[in-house]
Amino acid sequence: MVIAILNQKGGVGKTTLSVHIASTLALAGNRVLLIDADAQRCALEWAASREMKSIFSVVGISKNIIHKEIPLLKPNYDYIVIDGPPRVYDVARSAIAASDIILIPVQPSLYDVWSAKEVVDLINEVKEPLQAYKKIKAAFIINRKIFNTIIGRDVVEALEQYKNVPVLSSCITQRIVYAEMAARGTTAVEDDPESNGGKEIKKLTEELIKFSRNGDVK
Ligand SMILES: Nc1ncnc2c1ncn2[C@@H]1O[C@H](COP(=O)(O)OP(=O)(O)OP(=O)(O)O)[C@@H](O)[C@H]1O
Ligand SMILES: [Mg+2]
Repeated sequence: MVIAILNQKGGVGKTTLSVHIASTLALAGNRVLLIDADAQRCALEWAASREMKSIFSVVGISKNIIHKEIPLLKPNYDYIVIDGPPRVYDVARSAIAASDIILIPVQPSLYDVWSAKEVVDLINEVKEPLQAYKKIKAAFIINRKIFNTIIGRDVVEALEQYKNVPVLSSCITQRIVYAEMAARGTTAVEDDPESNGGKEIKKLTEELIKFSRNGDVK
């Protein structure tokens, strides 16, 4: 299964969620490949700052050849996670065409809701001609939710304008641990699976896999 974490908007948590989802799937015993599709190479930097043994492979493909490479890579992995680039449209298009499921991180702000239109439009444009061959699903995940707050109803309501792109019921909270893990090349799930961060990432990964199988949001 190919999971792409995409949003044309920068800094919404694509790399953070990519390494955490890849790590969760690998810790569960799956063969996982993380493709860093961003020319800035943050996921590769994450891997380079790691001192422990790797639990999944990270490779950089920041050209619009991802959809051509994936069929060759797929037999060797249970899951391929693509960390998408901000802005670069042709690479994002290639990642969408290669995917089974697309996760769109958005911060709980109306600015993020409005700018998500770009990625949703791009997904619709790419998936339509492919519909006869495969069904590409997409869902939003709210990232950087402030602990102990409820997400503004205006944000959730505004996301409903994007038909066929549901909002996962899991949320990822604003936690300093996610930034700290980047510097050490590890993840909250690996560091302490029973920590609040570890638990919310596991919950998100489980919901994502369930959604990819039956299209349901809890
Ligand atoms: N839930 C979170 N809690 C705290 N910090 C976070 C969270 N999610 C992301 N960050 C921090 O926000 C910054 C941007 O996150 P990240 O690099 O994952 O975003 P991105 O979408 O990959 O950015 P880019 O578009 O530049 O590739 C990083 O410093 C990261 O550590
Ligand atoms: Mg990134």
